[in-house]
Amino acid sequence: MDDPQREELERAGWHVSARSFGAQLDSDHVDADGLRRLVARAEGVVRELRADDVDAILTLDAATNDDYPGSVATRHDPLTRSSAAPSDSRRAFGALVADGELVAMTFIDIHGKTAETDFTVVHPEWRRRGVATAVKAASILALTSEGITRFRTGGSADNAAILRANATLGYVRDEEWVTLTRGSA
Ligand SMILES: CC(C)(COP(=O)(O)OP(=O)(O)OC[C@H]1O[C@@H](n2cnc3c(N)ncnc32)[C@H](O)[C@@H]1OP(=O)(O)O)[C@@H](O)C(=O)NCCC(=O)NCCS
Repeated sequence: MDDPQREELERAGWHVSARSFGAQLDSDHVDADGLRRLVARAEGVVRELRADDVDAILTLDAATNDDYPGSVATRHDPLTRSSAAPSDSRRAFGALVADGELVAMTFIDIHGKTAETDFTVVHPEWRRRGVATAVKAASILALTSEGITRFRTGGSADNAAILRANATLGYVRDEEWVTLTRGSA
């Protein structure tokens, strides 16, 4: 953020086109009771997603593809049948409402004992009801119980909703960076 190169590039006509952040939660700082409360207060059923949820995952992804803020720095690539398939190294947790519709999901890539959130999304009609916070909380609870010790997440620093959700879950912001683009803003 404070890199002297940034000033130099801005003087040369580059401008900030995106601000990004990274954040971390270590398992010994996880408030399990607090996370359970966040899961319990959400509407619908929050559970891990499996290979047979792929059609529902693809439907929710297609409905929300244009909703991610932050330009190229935090772009979400539309899921394919392969990238939508949960596995041991790519876990997914979701919220399903009464008619069985999947309305929220979070995908997490596992590298050893570290879990890195790929993306989290909620159907537009179900936003601002604590559902994103709930699915992320459920993922942290499940993965902590399996021995994951470090959770990483990140995204656009202009995405107020995900920043607030992460803060509620206990993530601490430890990285910020900007994307510079040549030309006028
Ligand atoms: C970001 C997103 C997942 C949040 O889902 P959500 O279910 O609405 O989030 P929650 O209801 O759990 O809200 C989390 C917090 O953000 C706040 N919030 C929600 N939407 C907000 C908005 N548009 N502006 C400001 N704050 C917002 C909530 O009030 C809550 O804060 P609080 O805990 O202090 O009360 C959802 O808006 C979305 O799908 N956006 C498009 C995809 C995206 O940007 N994903 C994140 C990057 S991968």
